[in-house]
Amino acid sequence: MEKTQIYLDPHFSIAEVDRRIFGSFLEHLGRAVYQGVYQPSSKHADEDGLRIDVLKALSRLGVSIVRYPGGNFASGYHWIDGIGPKQDRPTVRELAWQSTETNQFGTDEFMRLCSKMSWRPMMTVNLGTGTPEEARNWVEYCNCPKGTKFADLRVSNGFEEPHGVKLWCLGNEMDAPWQLGHVPAEQYALRAQQAAKMMRDVDHSIELVVAGSCLPSMETYMDWDRIVLEYLGEYADYIGFHRYVGNQLNDTADYLAISNSIDKQIEEMNAVCSYVQARKRSRKRTYLCFDEWNVWYKNQVKDGSGKHAPHLLEERYNLEDALVVAGFLLSFIRHADVLKIANIAQLVNVIAPILTDGERCLVQSIYWPFAMISETAHGVALRTVSEGPSYVSPSYGDTLFVDSAAVLEGDTIRIFLINRSMDESAEIELRPTHIQIQRAKTAALLTGNDSKLENSFEKPNEIEPREMEEISVKDGAAKIEIPPLAFASITFQIS
Ligand code: AHR
Repeated sequence: MEKTQIYLDPHFSIAEVDRRIFGSFLEHLGRAVYQGVYQPSSKHADEDGLRIDVLKALSRLGVSIVRYPGGNFASGYHWIDGIGPKQDRPTVRELAWQSTETNQFGTDEFMRLCSKMSWRPMMTVNLGTGTPEEARNWVEYCNCPKGTKFADLRVSNGFEEPHGVKLWCLGNEMDAPWQLGHVPAEQYALRAQQAAKMMRDVDHSIELVVAGSCLPSMETYMDWDRIVLEYLGEYADYIGFHRYVGNQLNDTADYLAISNSIDKQIEEMNAVCSYVQARKRSRKRTYLCFDEWNVWYKNQVKDGSGKHAPHLLEERYNLEDALVVAGFLLSFIRHADVLKIANIAQLVNVIAPILTDGERCLVQSIYWPFAMISETAHGVALRTVSEGPSYVSPSYGDTLFVDSAAVLEGDTIRIFLINRSMDESAEIELRPTHIQIQRAKTAALLTGNDSKLENSFEKPNEIEPREMEEISVKDGAAKIEIPPLAFASITFQIS
């Protein structure tokens, strides 16, 4: 393969990388909560019933913020069912996933989990079957000092201090016909606006995410977003949108080019925000929140048949999926000026980087790119200008074999590279201007000899990062060689 040249300049800055792009998502779905993070009967359970083995694996993942309690689940959830003495909490029929919800894990358990893990909570209110007033009451329960009804309820449940939830999503995927309480854009906008007003009246400091299009393939894509943004106006701090991708055609090269369409989706969502802002002559800038994203196409078991914690959406991930996950994150870094929050969906068992099986816990392939990027992507995103060999993907058009993103922090540059070639190594020359590369401080590589290679309970370490040596630095520039089907994360010291 011909060489790839990447030009870097500290003056080509995009914006500070918002650490909230390393968010995740915990839904009452399948075995995500029960048998995932929470299992009092497990030998790994701590005093709160949380699984220490799972939490230990999650802490290395480097998650910053976690969205809860759904997802589709949120659109039928009444938060009041999940608080107070556990023996008094009702067991209810759960309609989104046709399961049984015992409510043994609820708001306060989630907050305790967040505080143990140093995660920031991000709550989704029920705008499907719930009312704006119910949403307002939840904000009071979580955020207000004692002295009024719902705040006092929290205190009586053992939480004297407010939970302090800053970020709230106004419903979930309300554009989708499968959503409980799905309505046309105008009706959602009205409902969301009423909820937003009351929630803000209770706590002026909260930030709100309006539910945008759940998929670019929706019939109402962009129109839905325009209508809700026009109506929500000043309440729309962020617009949320989703994307699940897969290799349905079993064409790895085509699949790996999918990040072109992630870039496009982000740019289209930003365009509709700019359009509405311009039409309204408004100073209000709505930022982007990619509040569900991941690979999901293999496991489509969605009906829990009335069971509690059924096996649903338990996707297994391989090397090519890990490279696609890396591609999502590189796209997020490249759009640091507009994309401020993103949540990999989800955290444990359900389309997740971690799986449990009885008392065992497995780290899947997609765990690694997330952990590797989250660990090092601190600082300002830099534009990378690449010249190099490319191919034509039938679904996503012209695609460079090498995908890249870079982040600058003080005397350090981090560069993230994906070699999408199935069979050839990529030779890359990093050509900085106005700075000199001094040396590689750390370099990690994730690869394997088969795009379908995956970790399993029997062979848990098939895919994991290794140290990378194929780097040379000379005259302020660097040369890097990356094997086929690989992701590299390299930190350089610069002067
Ligand atoms: O993450 C699984 C589901 O996907 C979520 O509940 C829903 O919002 C989306 O359709």
